[in-house]
Amino acid sequence: MKGRMPHDIQQNKQDSGDHALPVVEESKATEAGNYFVSNYPPFSLWTPGHVSTLMDRLQTPDDRERTTGLYVHIPFCRKRCHFCYFRVYTDKSRNEVSEYLDAVTDEAAWLGDTPYVRGKKLRFVYFGGGTPSFLSESQLDDLFTALRERFDWSEVEEVAFECEPGTLTPRKLKKLKSLGVTRLSLGIENFSDEILEHNNRAHRTQQVQAAYDGARDAGFEHINIDLIAGMMGETDANWRHCIERTLEYEPDAITVYQMEIPYNTTIYKQMRESGKTIAPVADWDTKRRWVAEAFTAFEDAGYHIGSAYTAVKDAQRVKFIYRDELWAGADMLALGVSSFGHVGGVHYQNQHDIVPYMSAVAAGDPPVYRALPVGDEELFLRQWMLQLKLGRVNRSDFVERYGIDPFTRFAELLGTYADAGYLTMDGDDLVFTREGLLRVDRLLHAFFPEELKGVRYA
Ligand SMILES: C[S@@+](CC[C@H](N)C(=O)[O-])C[C@H]1O[C@@H](n2cnc3c(N)ncnc32)[C@H](O)[C@@H]1O
Ligand code: SF4
Repeated sequence: MKGRMPHDIQQNKQDSGDHALPVVEESKATEAGNYFVSNYPPFSLWTPGHVSTLMDRLQTPDDRERTTGLYVHIPFCRKRCHFCYFRVYTDKSRNEVSEYLDAVTDEAAWLGDTPYVRGKKLRFVYFGGGTPSFLSESQLDDLFTALRERFDWSEVEEVAFECEPGTLTPRKLKKLKSLGVTRLSLGIENFSDEILEHNNRAHRTQQVQAAYDGARDAGFEHINIDLIAGMMGETDANWRHCIERTLEYEPDAITVYQMEIPYNTTIYKQMRESGKTIAPVADWDTKRRWVAEAFTAFEDAGYHIGSAYTAVKDAQRVKFIYRDELWAGADMLALGVSSFGHVGGVHYQNQHDIVPYMSAVAAGDPPVYRALPVGDEELFLRQWMLQLKLGRVNRSDFVERYGIDPFTRFAELLGTYADAGYLTMDGDDLVFTREGLLRVDRLLHAFFPEELKGVRYA
């Protein structure tokens, strides 16, 4: 069946005649804005008015079998990278960090004791940031102990933890291992000190070696390296060097992001001040070519491309439960400033600034800022789009779960993408070609309903 189009897609292709859809409208240069699709519906539709629906949901016991995870946001960094768009603080003292962690612990006590959450067993826990590895060993000890007391960790299979290499010491790595971290992710980003400095990264390559050796010594099951294709100052030769250096480490997984410049970055601020509309980073064709070169080199070294952004060394052994479960629609409890979560059909986000977040917790109020209840239609679309990022989706999964056949629903668009060389069919599976995978986030926007196309994403 490989390469054959299902009947409904073929039919539509014939019907579409010469009014074919534009495939992807994009500027070649990197302009400011978000195109990365991390959730659906877009965050700008989530409102404070819907928070009461979340509260009602949390007050109702839930007897449905669901996979549940926990996300904990640690919003501190040593420096703010010029390209970063996350909620981070670089000016907090050790005491202020501890006060924040106390607030997260209090929030955990409230959330863990709601009728909806009580008794649920977590399957995965993810510490993201910011820089979770910014925390000291004693802060890590206290935080993990508190979270283990407030949620049932007895069936946790994965504890993922993001690190900035310059914050790691052999002792801290051993501590993380003893606390149960299984997946350690290192934000290496680049192997040129000049480029790291130019982009205001806090770490340097010498610290990468120490961090990686310490992580291997500590014995983590799964070490991931993050790279960004298209940092300011990147060149063909240096990118090749980054690929080679990454492979020398033989990490279990490698994640490569294409640089985007959202509006809340320092780079965008500088662009606006100088009246520029084009970001001082490589254009999209170049960034895609760099990722393609990296993927080919990783495949030649025996890695498997497991999504639009990741290569894994041993796909049977190395799993990423957080990503797979999140993209399959699992519940995720969110703790900390600006965290995103999802419980029983309600998306929500916490207060996105540390002051209102801390005040809400201190007053004994839930620190939730906005929410959005969603139905099967939205859940279907969300799962469809997020799973397309894996590069392969199965039709029957959607028919069984939602009673919706995505191949029929999107026949015309899928036909257009197939004609453009972005996807092929393999039996009941839709498979992205490498060209499709390299621009998957752009292709996803066309699946949004008409009224949401072009809605500001954040
Ligand atoms: C929260 S950070 C990881 C942990 C730690 N803060 C660090 O940077 O080392 C998540 C990842 O997002 C990626 N990232 C950040 N800003 C980006 C941007 N503007 N475009 C593409 N990727 C970006 C980086 O690869 C970074 O490692
Ligand atoms: S270290 Fe990570 S979270 Fe912190 S500013 Fe840099 S990219 Fe953002």
